[in-house]
Amino acid sequence: MQIQVAKRLKHTEEYYFSKKLSEIETLNQTGEKVINLGIGSPDLPPHPAVIETLHEYASLSSTHAYQNYRGVLPLRSAIADWYSTYYQVSLDPNKHVLPLIGSKEGIVHICMTYLQEGDEALFPNPGYPAYAAAIRLSGATGVPYDLDASNGWLPDLDALAKRDLSRVKLMWLNYPHMPTGATATTTFFKEAVAFAKQHNILLCHDNPYSFILTDRPQSLLSIEGAMEVVIELNSLSKSSNMAGWRVGMLLGAENRINEVIRFKSNMDSGMFLPVQMAAAKALSLGREWYDELNESYRNRREKVFRLLDTLRCTYDKQQVGLFVWAKIPVDYPNGYALSDEILQQSRVFITPGGIFGTGGDAYIRVSLCATEAVLDEARDRIINAKTNL
Ligand SMILES: Cc1ncc(COP(=O)(O)O)c(C=O)c1O
Repeated sequence: MQIQVAKRLKHTEEYYFSKKLSEIETLNQTGEKVINLGIGSPDLPPHPAVIETLHEYASLSSTHAYQNYRGVLPLRSAIADWYSTYYQVSLDPNKHVLPLIGSKEGIVHICMTYLQEGDEALFPNPGYPAYAAAIRLSGATGVPYDLDASNGWLPDLDALAKRDLSRVKLMWLNYPHMPTGATATTTFFKEAVAFAKQHNILLCHDNPYSFILTDRPQSLLSIEGAMEVVIELNSLSKSSNMAGWRVGMLLGAENRINEVIRFKSNMDSGMFLPVQMAAAKALSLGREWYDELNESYRNRREKVFRLLDTLRCTYDKQQVGLFVWAKIPVDYPNGYALSDEILQQSRVFITPGGIFGTGGDAYIRVSLCATEAVLDEARDRIINAKTNL
């Protein structure tokens, strides 16, 4: 039987990491295990109280049924309290909050809810590849906007305003930015909200890294009047060490939440109740939780800086988030060449910046999701491979 995939998949390949992990798996069968510094999947566990809550609710006989599509009130209230405490944003848990099965699904839900053929959507280059993929899946046309180190990796809104924006319905923003670790200023956030209002664009802010190595978490929704034009995604994957649990959230005006539910409720059902209750617990932890987490990420980041020095890469020491973004030496054509060389010679995997768009070609990205000992070993392997050449 000849069966063709749908047109919408024509330019959509299996996710880069999904393919790369298979390659690493194959390498692992032929010798020393590869040290994977590619993915931002926290290796540290969630707080013990989170696990206890999961156990407690999972052991009840009444918690195994389907859950409602909007998430349980204790989770929505915990999300609203978290936003009030840390971001100074006031949300009504009954109107402005939608728990998600990870924020990645939210990217697709948003694109499928608002975009169709003929529409355009702006996305960052370099940026998280899921934005461009979700725009493509919706049938709309993705329009990359370039980010550059010289501009603090912030979009040039004046230059964008000079383009024809008549078809642009939606713009993806992500600060702290992945992969560059750049942060946005409040002034920029205000300008972005004004830009969205002026051009009638829905600003979709993806905010999973705001607690990692930052002094102060920031939400785009904290800007006055933002609720009119902004929706925000957030996640427990990074800040609560719960990547595999798949808990994210969408925050925005009541109408926006109701619109996204029209798509999402036809795709999936509510999360397992014990997961929702444990997530609520995670969000209620005090500031000490984030301080402790950041203490270990700070120490790891120092190790990564040393590893990057060994590779003769340059980097901004002020960057935040779960990775270090670094410029490669000029004698490599691009980050893929350096990444491949390290993988083959040292059995260490580091992400080539080019997978985040052409703006990342001259960069690599190193994850902080490895212990200091593993990071030391990765550096030793690289040094040894160089001496043995
Ligand atoms: C910028 C960005 N957004 C969203 C996600 C997805 O996070 P989640 O685990 O909540 O789906 C990631 C994960 O790596 C990310 O880097």
